[in-house]
Amino acid sequence: FPVERIRNFSIIAHIDHGKSTLADRLLEITGAIVKTERNKQVLDKLQVEQERGITVKAQTASVFYTHQGQQYLLNLIDTPGHVDFSYEVSRSISACQGVLLIVDANQGIQAQTVANFYLAFEAQLTIIPVINKIDLKNADPERVEAQIEKVFDIPREECIRISAKLGTNVERVLQEIVERLPPPTASRDDSFKALVFDSDFSHYRGVVANVAVFGGQVRKGDRIVSAYLGKSYEVNELGLLRPHEHPTDRLYAGQVGYMVAGMKDVKEAQIGDTLYHQQHPVDALPGFKPAKAMVFAGIYPMDQSEYTGLRSAIDKLTLNDSSVTVQKDSSLALGAGWRLGFLGLLHMEVFNQRLEQEYNANVVVTAPTVPYKAEHGSEEITIVNPAQFPDRSVVSQYLEPMVNGTILAPDSYIGKIMTLCLNRRATQENMVYIDDHRVMMKYIFPLNEIVVDFYDLLKSMSSGYASFDYENAGYQAADLIKMDILLNGKSVEELTMIVHRQRAYNVGKAMCERLKDSIPRQMFEIAVQAAIGSKVIARETIKPFRKNVLAKCYGGDITRKMKLLKRQAEGKKKMRRIGNIDVPKDAFINVLKRT
Ligand code: GTP
Repeated sequence: FPVERIRNFSIIAHIDHGKSTLADRLLEITGAIVKTERNKQVLDKLQVEQERGITVKAQTASVFYTHQGQQYLLNLIDTPGHVDFSYEVSRSISACQGVLLIVDANQGIQAQTVANFYLAFEAQLTIIPVINKIDLKNADPERVEAQIEKVFDIPREECIRISAKLGTNVERVLQEIVERLPPPTASRDDSFKALVFDSDFSHYRGVVANVAVFGGQVRKGDRIVSAYLGKSYEVNELGLLRPHEHPTDRLYAGQVGYMVAGMKDVKEAQIGDTLYHQQHPVDALPGFKPAKAMVFAGIYPMDQSEYTGLRSAIDKLTLNDSSVTVQKDSSLALGAGWRLGFLGLLHMEVFNQRLEQEYNANVVVTAPTVPYKAEHGSEEITIVNPAQFPDRSVVSQYLEPMVNGTILAPDSYIGKIMTLCLNRRATQENMVYIDDHRVMMKYIFPLNEIVVDFYDLLKSMSSGYASFDYENAGYQAADLIKMDILLNGKSVEELTMIVHRQRAYNVGKAMCERLKDSIPRQMFEIAVQAAIGSKVIARETIKPFRKNVLAKCYGGDITRKMKLLKRQAEGKKKMRRIGNIDVPKDAFINVLKRT
């Protein structure tokens, strides 16, 4: 296929603005999939994606489209919209020459629209703005076009108005992709050179790499080398993703496809790696900046006998998602486990959900923490585990990670948003109007103040109208302390956390109140306490049951009694035992999410 008739593009947008729906329409129009109810959001393959209705992993689809009598090969790379997954967006973008920037005709520009625009803009890609959902009663495409002109400096005439749901004007999007996006600059006469921009793991075939060919061509049976490890492999299988695997016998410069080459080990499939022919070494492509973990949590098997199984599940999942960092960890209370680093809380939840759903794992997860630092003289250590928080006496100062946050919202919520941000120790940088009624506010936040629940709170206090995005902004000195949560005097290791002194009382109090609500009554009284060192700063009491559970069984009937005990035992499987107290396994994360 001639390079001039290839177009590689991504669809980028704020969450829910309709990327996946547009992708479905593009696939239907080009005949890659048949239009049926069942085929909704075919690119969202993972169970968690279908359940949560969000895209977590970018997916690739190659389609053919005929324009003015010429056939074109369009490679579409669907991307996730949530802030935690912006890493996937930048990866996808590196294999593209252009993007469709989707903006909801009713909601207008949102925080991730801004973030994604800059990713594409900085990568110097051609940007086609697409105003979606013009069928909505409250759609106001004119206002949105004016925002696009004002905020991104793109002339409003360049916007395409569509309804992805109804298919209105979607054909025009395809035409504009062909006419406005440049073809890849790759040449077929060069030596073979390909970028691994994503990878999947299949139990039978090992690593399935998603590759963008930047030069030359590659055939089945070729011997290739990966620049990162210098190891060589034979290409067993390759092809296009349409969107399902469609084997071909070669891939050419400019194409995007998949490749299986007998890579069996996690470390062999480096994302950002360059592949080349063994006889013709090339300089490695720039690759990617490694994703930086922002949230750390301990993960332990519920039962130590499940350690090996859990280790292999984590290995396989991290192969699928190389942005997760893994370190061994162990704790007196929880046994041997790992400390994992994630890009954000949603990322962490999705990872745990996948462990449970796809690998049947039964895990204990500790309170998420951000990477703090402690300085002593010229030495600096990073603290990702509250259990290893160094004492003040050996530290000259503690530092916490900061982020630049962007909030977009209707101006009627300015007051409430400012209060919320102040409570989260944020400093306002600036505020601009993007149209008559909407503002863009910039704040510097401590990362730990926004990582767990900030976004949910912002959403609910603005009736869903505010949106939020953030990026790293280095470290700042902070007065940090370690807080323990105690049940009848015994520390709950999962909930030990590092907090700012100023916030300790409020956080501790809220944690105790919520734990009280999520731990069921037991046969005895339970004291729920928050403590700093030996000083208790908050306390709640869980009153005991008044009656024995077995009292219901009227003494005699032994089978009923057995049944009841059995049912209780089954219930306990999902419980964690702390001292002599049974705590539902999901109580902890629920408690954390609402502090
Ligand atoms: P993420 O993958 O989670 O980032 O979301 P997305 O951007 O892919 O959005 P998705 O395609 O899942 O669409 C979000 C919601 O908007 C769904 O309920 C769609 O049915 C709806 N939607 C998408 N396009 C249109 C449209 O043109 N008109 C209307 N009325 N609704 C639409």
